[in-house]
Amino acid sequence: MNKILVTGGAGFIGSNFVLDWLSLEKDDVINLDKLTYAGNLENLASLNGNPLHHFVRGDIGDAELLKTLFSEHQPRAIVNFAAESHVDRSIHGPAEFIQTNIVGTFTLLEAARAYWNGLDDEGKKNFRFLHVSTDEVYGSLAVTDPAFTESKQYEPNSPYSASKAASDHLVRAYHHTYGLPVLTTNCSNNYGPYHFPEKLIPLVIHNALSGKPLPIYGDGQQIRDWLYVKDHASAIRCVLEAGRVGETYNIGGWNEKPNLDVVHTLCSILDELSPRADAKSYKEQITYVTDRPGHDRRYAIDASKIHRELGWKPLETFETGIRKTVQWYLEHQDWVKNVTSGSYQNWVEKQY
Ligand code: NAD
Ligand code: DAU
Repeated sequence: MNKILVTGGAGFIGSNFVLDWLSLEKDDVINLDKLTYAGNLENLASLNGNPLHHFVRGDIGDAELLKTLFSEHQPRAIVNFAAESHVDRSIHGPAEFIQTNIVGTFTLLEAARAYWNGLDDEGKKNFRFLHVSTDEVYGSLAVTDPAFTESKQYEPNSPYSASKAASDHLVRAYHHTYGLPVLTTNCSNNYGPYHFPEKLIPLVIHNALSGKPLPIYGDGQQIRDWLYVKDHASAIRCVLEAGRVGETYNIGGWNEKPNLDVVHTLCSILDELSPRADAKSYKEQITYVTDRPGHDRRYAIDASKIHRELGWKPLETFETGIRKTVQWYLEHQDWVKNVTSGSYQNWVEKQY
C-alpha cells in the first residue's frame, strides 16, 4: 500500500492539503504534527473515521519517533509543511523558529536519508522529499523590480525567513551531497479556509465582525502576492508527481495587491454579506499602527517555470478566492471562536 508522510498537516496549508489529497488520491496519509498553537485537529474533523488518515502527535525534531514512523509505514514520499510560520512571532521570539524550521528540518532530512538508504533501487528512485517553503527567502522587492524567479539570490530579512532559507539550503545540500531525491517549492502568501486569525486576512475578517480595529502596519502600501490555499495544494501535488528531482519551483497566484487594497476588498465584501448594524462601512474600523520592524516592502512570484514545465496554474482569481474565503469565515464562526480563545488572546495583547 502506498503512503505519504505529511508533517504539519493540522496547520492552515497542511490541513487543506490533507483534505484535498484524501478526496483525490489513493495513498494513505500519515499526518505528523506537534499541535502547537497553530495546529488544530478541528481542521481535520471531516476525516474522523477515515481509515486512510493516520494522525500522529509529535515533533519533526524527534529522531526516534521519525525512525519508528518510517519503518512502520514505509512512505513513498514526505511533504514537509511543519514550521513556525508567523513573521511577527519570529520577531518577538526567534528561538522556536530556529528549533523547528532549521533543526527540525535537519532531523527530518537525517531520518529520511537513513530510511532512503535502506530502500531497494526502485524504492530509492521513486522516493521524494518535498520541502514546502516561502517566497520570503528571496527578500524584498522595489515596486519596479521584476518578480522573483527560482534563480533569485536568497536575501531573507526576518528571523522567520532566515530560518526557512536555512532549511531550503539544507534540503538542497542533501540532494547534492547524498543524492536524496528532493523537491522544494517557494510559494507566495496563501489565504482561504482554516487560516489562523493572527495573519492579515483572517485577522481583519475576525476583527471586523467583532467590532475591533483593523490594524494596518505602516502606510499599508506593502505588496503581497496572494494565492488561494487550494491552488497551493494542487501545485504541490503537481510538483510531487512530476517535478524534476533537485529542482525548486516558485508557486504564486499572479495577484499582487497592496495590503490596504486587500483590507478595503474585505470590508466591501463584508459590507455586502454581513452589514454592520449601524449600516456604516467596516472601513471605519481601519487603524494605522506601528510598522513591523524590517517589514519587507514587496513580494512577487514569477510562477512561469511550474506552468511551463508542469502545466500548473491557479484556478482562483483573487476576486473569486477572497469572496469564498469571507463566506467560509461567516459560515464557520464556531471554528473562529474556538481558535481565538486561550493563548491567542495573550498574543493579541502582546502584539497590538
Ligand atoms: P501554520 O503555522 O498554520 O501550521 C504549521 C503546522 O506545523 C501546525 O499545525 C503546527 O502544529 C505544526 N508544527 C509546528 N512545529 C512543529 C514541529 N516541530 N513538529 C511537527 N509539527 C509542527 O503554517 P502554514 O501557514 O500552514 O504554513 C505551512 C508551511 O508552508 C510552512 O512551512 C510555511 O513556511 C510555508 N508557507 C506558508 C505560506 C503562508 O502564506 N501561510 C506561504 C508559503 C509557504
Ligand atoms: O509570503 C509568504 C508568507 O506569507 C509565508 O511564508 C508566511 O508563513 C505567512 O505568514 C505570510 O507572511 P506575511 O508576513 O506576508 O503575512 P501576514 O498575514 O502576517 O501579513 C501580510 C501583510 O499584512 C504584511 O505586509 C504585514 C501586514 N499586516 C499583517 C498583520 C498581521 C498588517 O498590516 N497588519 C496586521 O495586523
